[in-house]
Amino acid sequence: MTYEQLLAHMRAKLQHIAPDFEIEYKAKIAHEINQLKQERNAVILGHNYMEPALFHSVPDYTGDSLELSRRAAQTDADIIIFCGVEFMAETAKILNPNKTVLIPSQKAGCSLAASITAADVRQLKAQFPGVPVVTYINTYADVKAETDICCTSGNARAVVESLQADTIIFLPDEYLARNVAMETGKHIIFPTKNGKKADTTLDVQMIGWHGRCEVHEKFTVADIQAVRHDHPGTLILAHPECSPEVVAASDFSGSTTALIRFVEQTDASSYLLLTECAMGDNIMAANPEKEMLRLCSVRCPHMNQIRLEDTRNALRYTQYEVHVPEEIRVRALRSVERMLAIG
Ligand code: 13P
Ligand code: SF4
Repeated sequence: MTYEQLLAHMRAKLQHIAPDFEIEYKAKIAHEINQLKQERNAVILGHNYMEPALFHSVPDYTGDSLELSRRAAQTDADIIIFCGVEFMAETAKILNPNKTVLIPSQKAGCSLAASITAADVRQLKAQFPGVPVVTYINTYADVKAETDICCTSGNARAVVESLQADTIIFLPDEYLARNVAMETGKHIIFPTKNGKKADTTLDVQMIGWHGRCEVHEKFTVADIQAVRHDHPGTLILAHPECSPEVVAASDFSGSTTALIRFVEQTDASSYLLLTECAMGDNIMAANPEKEMLRLCSVRCPHMNQIRLEDTRNALRYTQYEVHVPEEIRVRALRSVERMLAIG
């Protein structure tokens, strides 16, 4: 694509949400990235939360964690640039040990991934011997290495049901676990919540952890009620990292891609998006006739580290390379591949 074609494409997508001088500035960087990408045989994977100018310009593939893991498993590029957070880039490295995997910022963590260690998982396994462990993909490689199977927000229920186990350990997101427990009709306990020990002799079908997403935990039922009052007819969309109360008060809950598809496939004129605010910009850019209400005072500080400028530097200077020790990688790979094998 020439610079002029790229600028025209970005103008078409971004004209309702950014001034033209900003689009031109971003298009110049995006063009340079696309040239470097070709020269270096690189592929760019972009999470749905990326800023609109990035999301609508340089990624070869965009999507939720599950879709991008599948793309990472299939690529034949030499370099994978992951425009997302560290656990996502790590998953790409787990699947591609012989490729160079780069993340454009070293500050793109995740409060869920930081909420649990491999030692925590080993302790739970000792406490509940033989109980299969499902971990959310929002964890680091050493945690994945201790677990039986991964899941994402897009397939959590399918993964849990695939195990056909009476009891499972589901880590580390308390709210996703509660939402999946609700969907699958399982009784859930949290053995170490707030330092207190729960009674684990009861009929327990799911054992959770106390991790939370620092973004989604902030949305409340009161936010939903206020929007329903002020904007009647608005459909409320919540990511399953929101509390079960928020999910129950919403009209639809699903992975980031499921939320995008819901907007595309329904004909309401207004939606409230209870997830990272940038995704609302991306949806509005693609669906200018729809109004996306967002609570942008709540942002993911990690996803917002990744901009076009950082992505260009990643390609220019081959930074920042993701490494996973081989002994951990091979064990983590089993739990990622088991997940990918589920449709
Ligand atoms: P998705 O897999 O739904 O894209 O979610 C990733 C995430 O980090 C949400 O906060
Ligand atoms: Fe992690 Fe929450 Fe940010 Fe997603 S939105 S990357 S779960 S901190």
